[in-house]
Amino acid sequence: MVNSTSFLLLLSLLTFVPSCLCSTKFGGYLYPQFYDYSCPRAQEIVKSILANAVANEPRIAASLLRLHFHDCFVKGCDASILLDSSGSITSEKGSNPNRNSARGFEVIDEIKSTLEKECPHTVSCADILALSARDSTVLTGGPSWEVPLGRRDSRGASIKGSNNNIAAPNNTFQTILTKFNLQGLDIVDLVALSGSHTIGNSRCTSFRQMLYSQTGNAKVEFTLDQYYAAELRNLCPRSGGDQNLFVLDYVTPTKFDNNYFKNLLAYKGLLSSDEVLLSKNQESAELVKQYAENNDLFFQQFAKSMIKMGNISPLTGPRGEIRKNCRKINT
Ligand code: HEM
Repeated sequence: MVNSTSFLLLLSLLTFVPSCLCSTKFGGYLYPQFYDYSCPRAQEIVKSILANAVANEPRIAASLLRLHFHDCFVKGCDASILLDSSGSITSEKGSNPNRNSARGFEVIDEIKSTLEKECPHTVSCADILALSARDSTVLTGGPSWEVPLGRRDSRGASIKGSNNNIAAPNNTFQTILTKFNLQGLDIVDLVALSGSHTIGNSRCTSFRQMLYSQTGNAKVEFTLDQYYAAELRNLCPRSGGDQNLFVLDYVTPTKFDNNYFKNLLAYKGLLSSDEVLLSKNQESAELVKQYAENNDLFFQQFAKSMIKMGNISPLTGPRGEIRKNCRKINT
């Protein structure tokens, strides 16, 4: 029997329950209001520094969106990617997916040092990455979502995890899907999140094998438009030019929209990992077509999948720490 006092207590408790109590693998909870009392201006500060950074260099939005992904797939969303090598820590920045590629660390440093002045030892680097990924999406024209917060920062990094868990552009469709499944993400998340390639750049070295066959004959992969491939070969020769940059979405390179999916249907996806979504699996091909047709559907699913990705094994409660400097663990 519930008496009236306990009923009222229950009711008042429910009133204060945050709108998204996102449960995590380890039973910790993230929720958007986490800093409402401890650092009420946190979100505003992240957004304004990011807006300046993106105005200076539009690509930074893409780079920060990718950093959150590369963080979450390695030991969870715990800012392990931000640690520099020191002592027993080997930085993830030197892993195959990140070396000469992951960027945006200086912007995270600027946000962190401003937040340390505003509310010392309060806002985690992992949450800064999650907020930056959302704001980067919004600033480039994509959807918005409430970011569940309360992640804490790791006291270690895993270069092995970074090499193994993050999909490579030449992985097969099945390998890529398996890597997502291992993080609790499904085929819908895979296709929607790959839509991030609507902004940002890739180096020649990441897609060269799409342009030249294994044997060295100039035989283009059958999934790539011949004219598009010929253009790409101009600046991405068989050897040399590894670091030359190409836009991932040649139609609207700095705008977050569904052109990535339209490009795939026109056989103008840049990475092999993009093309296989259309060519190697019926279910993902169907999703590519749906997102190409319906921008709203893509935006809705992208926001959902980003929240799901942001919930991968966060450190909560007494686990981890709030780093003072995102590049090193506290002493
Ligand atoms: C599905 C598996 C994926 C593979 C194989 C993959 C691979 C790549 C590669 C090779 C690049 C170019 C890197 C370079 O050459 O420097 C890239 C760029 C990028 N990726 Fe992915 N990616 C995947 C999924 C994702 C996801 C899930 C996100 C975000 C949620 C994402 C966001 C980005 C962004 C925004 C860029 C551009 C970065 C910049 O311009 O700095 N990618 N990705």
